[in-house]
Amino acid sequence: MNNGFAVAVDGPAGAGKSSTTDTVAKRLGIKKINSGSMYRAVALYVLRKGVDIHDEEAVLAQLPNIEIELTDEDVFLNGENVITEIRNPVVDAVVPITSEYLPLRKKMVAKQREYAKTTEVLMEGRDIGYEVFPDAPVRIYLHASAKERANRRYKQNIANGMAADYEQILNKINERDMQDQSRKHGRLLTLEDALAKGYIEVDSSNMSEEETVNAIIAHINAARRKQCFIDSQEG
Ligand code: DC
Repeated sequence: MNNGFAVAVDGPAGAGKSSTTDTVAKRLGIKKINSGSMYRAVALYVLRKGVDIHDEEAVLAQLPNIEIELTDEDVFLNGENVITEIRNPVVDAVVPITSEYLPLRKKMVAKQREYAKTTEVLMEGRDIGYEVFPDAPVRIYLHASAKERANRRYKQNIANGMAADYEQILNKINERDMQDQSRKHGRLLTLEDALAKGYIEVDSSNMSEEETVNAIIAHINAARRKQCFIDSQEG
């Protein structure tokens, strides 16, 4: 399906996927794609157009007008850099709804596969290892317990001088996991489902970010060695 070497990293929100995979990709010199930012850019577009996001037909009618391009650092929506705007709370609220529409997902998945045709990519998301690149040589399920994710968010909020209520944060994380896992399309797998599909588990609950980065790199290097061995046997 992909000619380049693809690394898929899926897992729940708040497990450190984004920051750890940024570091992994930089250290290995491979392109990093945050698939969530593509769905966010589409949500931003329809929001700006004032489309009723619950009207699937109306949202899908906008698809031909939307072009998204990602660089390592930025997200371009029809040529405009929207990297900051796609993180707005309004987009947070809308994107779980719009990203469920199947033809929209198909357009995003096609674009995601295109990136892997020309270069090595590390792609993070929810459905990368079972939908976008089911045959990727490395498919990682990066997670951490809900309590640990809540703990990290709590400390982050305190450090940023924001209000922080641990129980409230934990409830939100559990709610978000449920929402992500119970979607009809592009759902987040449970750990059990991911393991059954052959993902490698990386549990960062008791790991520092550096340890998590090193664990992912070790899995990638092992897969590269295996690939080299297969290539040498075939060639
Ligand atoms: O990872 P994130 O929070 O930026 O993702 C934004 C939204 O996009 C979230 O609601 C889940 C959705 N998403 C998706 O449906 N499929 C992906 N591969 C990645 C994200």
